[in-house]
Amino acid sequence: MSSPRTPRIAVVGAGGIGAAAHLPAIVSLRDEVELVAIVDPDEQRRTDAGARFDCRNLYADMAVMQAEQSPDIVVVATPPHLHETLSIQAMRAGAWVFCEKPLTGSLESVDRIVDAEAETGTWCISVSQFRYAGGSQQAHEALRSRRWGRPLIGVAHTAWYRGPDYWDIPWRGKFATEFAGATTTQAYHAVDLLLWLMGGDWQSVSGVADTLTRPIEVEDASAAVVRFSSGAIATLLSTVLSSHQQTRLQVIAETATIDLDTLYLPLQEEWSMRYVDAAGETVRATDWPAPEPPLEVNAHRSQLREILDAWRTGRTPDVTAREARKTLEFLTALYKSSATGSPVLRGEIVAGDPFYTALDAAGPTRKQVAHV
Ligand SMILES: NC(=O)c1ccc[n+]([C@@H]2O[C@H](COP(=O)([O-])OP(=O)(O)OC[C@H]3O[C@@H](n4cnc5c(N)ncnc54)[C@H](O)[C@@H]3O)[C@@H](O)[C@H]2O)c1
Repeated sequence: MSSPRTPRIAVVGAGGIGAAAHLPAIVSLRDEVELVAIVDPDEQRRTDAGARFDCRNLYADMAVMQAEQSPDIVVVATPPHLHETLSIQAMRAGAWVFCEKPLTGSLESVDRIVDAEAETGTWCISVSQFRYAGGSQQAHEALRSRRWGRPLIGVAHTAWYRGPDYWDIPWRGKFATEFAGATTTQAYHAVDLLLWLMGGDWQSVSGVADTLTRPIEVEDASAAVVRFSSGAIATLLSTVLSSHQQTRLQVIAETATIDLDTLYLPLQEEWSMRYVDAAGETVRATDWPAPEPPLEVNAHRSQLREILDAWRTGRTPDVTAREARKTLEFLTALYKSSATGSPVLRGEIVAGDPFYTALDAAGPTRKQVAHV
């Protein structure tokens, strides 16, 4: 059912990404959505955010905010270990949720969120902003429609740098609060984008994840080889140890290769497509990606617009908890493969498997498990 009124939105967590991406996106869309409240137990953060984004309804606790404001949509931008509890609480109060990545820390937990979607009739949408930036949607459509034939090979390399003080923020680097490291926290975007572009039909993954230098529990590097049911193959590299920072994605299809070379946001000009012409020369296409739709520099904003459209028209939004589960299952399988030394098949991690209840069940014992 469609709704003619403007949806009311609240932001829960006014820290790094809440203040840098979600709140600017919301206030820039003031004709489409009304910012009604900001929640953060940190008084300074909520006061600063209230002043900067012109919001007077400031709360330390989400339940109090929901009782007084009844928002239609709640953005959850807190540390990862709070995502499930806050999202389900918001959904039970009747709101749609737009939750930061990773949506949660295990398949068991994401299944509870999927159940809550069914129970409440609301949606918990996972932030997957790379799917909404630059040429992502055009690349997805071209690959889905087989414009360049089948995708055969994929590459997703996330080589970022995080110095030791990055982990001064207490929730970072720990299994209990961050769940996992470079592959899930930093490389989430490239992994999610590649799996989506390749058609989502991954069949098995062989991975190695380890903590090579940083004094943290979660991994600072991983590598993986992926097989898709179509026969396609892919390689992944995820690290926070690279002095040359880049996010590099490539899809080699039958008649064209698309590349993305970026760091934090796949802007339109950072995509390219090449093909081999009749003379056997490699040519860079000048008409791809097309300049439409107009470039958005805040991809959270692009995804929020998709959610607002779904809310207004009553349709199912793109990246519900069930859709986000696919990426979470893949990441879990990569960690399980690293711990067991064997490829892990899609669908094999079910209730009873230790990896069903933890994204990386090898946890801080990974080294002993992986090296026996
Ligand atoms: N999509 C992206 O590009 C992107 C980038 C950075 C971070 N993230 C994700 O966003 C989330 C937050 O990361 P961050 O770097 O902004 O963290 P942060 O620590 O800077 O901010 C988190 C905020 O949540 C607040 N908070 C804690 N408990 C709360 C509660 N119960 N209710 C309301 N607020 C609460 C904290 O006080 C803090 O202000 C993480 O899941 C992270 O992985 C996503």
